[in-house]
Amino acid sequence: MEIIICPDEARVARVSAAKIARVVAEVGPRAVLGVATGSSPVATYRELGRLVAAGRLDLSEASAFALDEYVGLAYDHPQSYHDTIRRTVTEPLGLSPHRVHVPDGAGDVQTAGERYEAAIKAAGGVDIQLLGVGANGHIGFNEPGSSLASRTRIKTLAPKTRQDNARFFSSIDEVPVHCLTQGLATILDARQALLVALGEGKAEAVAAIAEGPVTAMWPGSVLQLHQHATLVVDEAAASRLKLIDYYHQVQEFLPDWQELDL
Ligand code: F6R
Repeated sequence: MEIIICPDEARVARVSAAKIARVVAEVGPRAVLGVATGSSPVATYRELGRLVAAGRLDLSEASAFALDEYVGLAYDHPQSYHDTIRRTVTEPLGLSPHRVHVPDGAGDVQTAGERYEAAIKAAGGVDIQLLGVGANGHIGFNEPGSSLASRTRIKTLAPKTRQDNARFFSSIDEVPVHCLTQGLATILDARQALLVALGEGKAEAVAAIAEGPVTAMWPGSVLQLHQHATLVVDEAAASRLKLIDYYHQVQEFLPDWQELDL
């Protein structure tokens, strides 16, 4: 796993946007992006928007697949991930709405997982999956205890996740109990995984994911099995990493061809 420790959120955003832009440059304009909601990737989307506005990145032919969705919120509910992705990704980054996909939490949820897996496959798979991480180590909404072999399906949100996400709703009672989420094996199928984490509250999860055992108790640790996973974190989120000096050294002596265009 490559671990990039940045002095602040702005740098995290620049590095992760540059990684995504590089993938688009390599695979071409029809790249397939995996996108996350939540606060962690917001600055990265802003940075990608800046690259698009400057004419350095064109996502008009790209596709996108969101990681997850609440069950039972209307597509246009402001906290549904359908609406969140439209506001934060599709419109500002100039993607074509018909090429942006979110699990169908407002339709037939029993078949939604299979339909979503088929749509990802039909698009040729995800080229780069952007991820955040929960304080409990979840990626997507794969809560602790999730099967490492899981695929897109309905999950029950952990009480901690409902509490954490209550800030987006007027009360915790409004936070849905169920969600649809790409599984851990679905996420591992992406050709690259890029996880961003900010702040002290994520330090324990980041350390467990990067340096602990691969375990369903810290679902993000499954990324240790990925061939091409990168963690981009700020110093607070990196503060519990044991090999921190080594990670800094790797970046200091990065071979030329791996240098990002920042
Ligand atoms: C969102 C998602 C979640 C979040 C995680 C962190 O689509 O899949 O795993 O990435 O809950 O959320 P923030 O970034 O708000 O701390």
